[in-house]
Amino acid sequence: MSNEGVDTSRRRFLTRATAAVGGAGVVAALYPFLASMAPSERAQAAGAPVEVDVSQLQPGERLTTEWRGRPVWVVRRSDDMLARLRTQEIRLRDPDSERDQQPEYARNEYRSIREEYLVLVGICTHLGCSPLFRPDAPAPEIHEQWTGGFFCPCHGSYFDLAGRVYAGVPAQLNMAVPPHRYASDTVLVIGEDGGEA
Ligand code: FES
Repeated sequence: MSNEGVDTSRRRFLTRATAAVGGAGVVAALYPFLASMAPSERAQAAGAPVEVDVSQLQPGERLTTEWRGRPVWVVRRSDDMLARLRTQEIRLRDPDSERDQQPEYARNEYRSIREEYLVLVGICTHLGCSPLFRPDAPAPEIHEQWTGGFFCPCHGSYFDLAGRVYAGVPAQLNMAVPPHRYASDTVLVIGEDGGEA
């Protein structure tokens, strides 16, 4: 047997031992943090569905919640915002949501179950910054034909009021619509859809 094999085994052992010690360190560091969380918070951190009450959300407003450690936005679109959605399709990269960025039930012109409410993962599909909510138009500092949407200041990508990306910006994909369903008229459940996705 060559020395090379021995060295390799020993190196492997040392690598594993180091990884084990490192892993134990991470667990030890995490434990007080996890232990301090209420059971519902722990479940949420692990990816459990999140209920959101939208009864106080006014047309034109957005609320932010968190699911699987990511920001999730619910935007209540006004009639005017919905009308503006139809004016820019020619300038969008994927106006019909053909790329896999939403459950099947949100593959429509509003990218939502109910057109009034948009549910989006609030992360830019370029490199992960959080875009700004800019529902009002005009806004020539973003674009001379701005009709409202989301603007990412990191590298200048922008998305319409359905989270659809414009052509010619760094981001290539529409923003993601997470699985969701309505538990009642005013309560949304994010992260669960009864298998309809
Ligand atoms: S991360 Fe949004 S444009 Fe680059």
